[in-house]
Amino acid sequence: MNITVIGLGHVGLVHAAAMAAIGHDVIGIDSDRARIATLLNGEVPFHEPGLSEEVHRQRRAGRLEFTNDPHVAYSGSEVAFICVGTPALPNGKADLSAVEAAARELERSSAPGGLVVVEKSTVPPGTHELLRRLLRADMCVASNPEFLREGTAMTDTLNPDRIVVGTDEAFADAVMRDVYSTMTDSGTRYVATSVATAELAKHACNSFLATKISFINAIANLCDAVGADVSQVAGVMGSDPRIGPDFLEAGLGYGGFCFPKDVAALSETFYDHGIVEASLLLQQVQRINRGMIGHVIAKLTRYVGLLPGSRVAVLGLAFKPGTDDTRYSPAVSLARTLERRGARVSTWDPKVRNVEELHAKPYPDIYNACRGAKAIILATEWDDIHRMSFARLADVMDGTTIIDARNMLSDSERSRAAAAGLSVIGVGQGEEVPACAWI
Ligand code: UDX
Repeated sequence: MNITVIGLGHVGLVHAAAMAAIGHDVIGIDSDRARIATLLNGEVPFHEPGLSEEVHRQRRAGRLEFTNDPHVAYSGSEVAFICVGTPALPNGKADLSAVEAAARELERSSAPGGLVVVEKSTVPPGTHELLRRLLRADMCVASNPEFLREGTAMTDTLNPDRIVVGTDEAFADAVMRDVYSTMTDSGTRYVATSVATAELAKHACNSFLATKISFINAIANLCDAVGADVSQVAGVMGSDPRIGPDFLEAGLGYGGFCFPKDVAALSETFYDHGIVEASLLLQQVQRINRGMIGHVIAKLTRYVGLLPGSRVAVLGLAFKPGTDDTRYSPAVSLARTLERRGARVSTWDPKVRNVEELHAKPYPDIYNACRGAKAIILATEWDDIHRMSFARLADVMDGTTIIDARNMLSDSERSRAAAAGLSVIGVGQGEEVPACAWI
C-alpha cells in the first residue's frame, strides 16, 4: 500500500521504516528541511538501536522515500499517519498545533478519494473531532496509538504486543486491517475500537505506568524512613500476577518525551470532565516524580554535605539507557538543580554530546568526569557503569560516596566498591532521609 508518514521524529521515522519493512511503499515528510536533508544524505538524526540499519535497508529496497514537498508526499497516498509532536503547553494540556497544521496541509494537498488519516501522535480523547472538522468529507479518520519505547523502538514496532486501531468508519477499518495484515497473519493481536477509545487507551497506558513508578518511588521513600528495602518490596509486589514485576524500579523517577506530557494531559482531561479526584491523583503522581530529585539531593547533603563549590559527578544524562534523548530527563534536572545550588557539576554520558541547560559539556570518559568529585551520582542505567573500575574511581575522586540513584549496582558490585574504599547509597534501601527532602 502507499503510505505517507507525517513527522519524522522518534515515532514517525521508526514507524516509516517499520511500514516499509512489512512491504509498504512509504514516503516520509517533515516540516524541518534540515531533517529531510540529513535523511536524504543517508544519516539518521538521533540514536535509536537498529533504526539506521532499517532505514538504509528500506531505502536500498526502494520502499522508503523522504520529501518536504506535500504534493509529492500525498499524491497516490492511501493512508497518512500523523506522527508530529504533541508537547505539553504551560497549562499541561497537549499542544495540538502541529496535528492541526498537518491536517490542514492534508486537506489542501491530497488528492480526493478516501484517504485514511491516522492519528499516531498521542492526543487527548476527542482530537478526532478536530480532525473531522479540518479534513474533507471524502477522508476517513482513525487512531492507531504507538506503544514503542525509545531504545527498543524498532523491535517494539515490528513486534508489537497488540495493534490498537480505533475508527468509526467501515472503510478505514478495512484499510487499517490491510496495513497490518502481515503482522496479524503472524499472530499479533488486533484490537479494533472506536476512535475515542483508542485515543484514551494510549493516555491511560502511559499514565498507569507512570503511576506505578511513582507508587514504588513513594514506597522507596518510606523504606528509607522505616529501614526497609524497596527492591524486596517490589519483588514481593511484582510476584503477584495481578501487579506484575515491570515498572516497579525505584529511583530518580520517570522522564522522556512521553510520560511527563501524557500524565499532565490526562490529568487536564479528567479535570475538564469534572473528574477532579482523578486529576488530583495524577497531579500527585507528577509531584512524587519531581520530588525524587530532591530526595536524592537530600541523601547527598546528608552523607557528603553539599558545600557550594563541591564537585559532584553525574553519570548518565539520557532519560534512560539506549537513547541520546535528554528531553525531560530526571538526570538533567538533577544536574541542573545541583548547579543552581552551587555545586560544580561534571557529567558523563556515552551518547549525549551536549545539553544546553548545563554549564559544561559531558565528558566522554567516566574517570575524567569523576576527577576531584566529592560524590558520584548514578543517574541513568548505562551498561558502561557496570564495567567501570571502582579502584580507578577511588583514585581519581576526592571523596568516597556513590549515590546509586537508579539502584543499578548489584551486591557484588557494591562489595567491589567497598573493597576499593567507596560507599554506595541507594534509593529506598533503608537509609533515613530528613522529611524536608521534598522540593
Ligand atoms: C514510554 C512507554 O513505555 C511507551 O509505551 C510509549 O509509547 C512512550 O512512552 P519511553 O518514554 O521510551 O516509553 O520509556 P520507558 O521505557 O517507558 O521509560 C520511561 C521512564 O520511566 C524512563 O525515564 C525510565 O527510566 C523510567 N522508569 C521506567 C522508572 O523510573 N522505573 C521503572 O520501573 C521503569
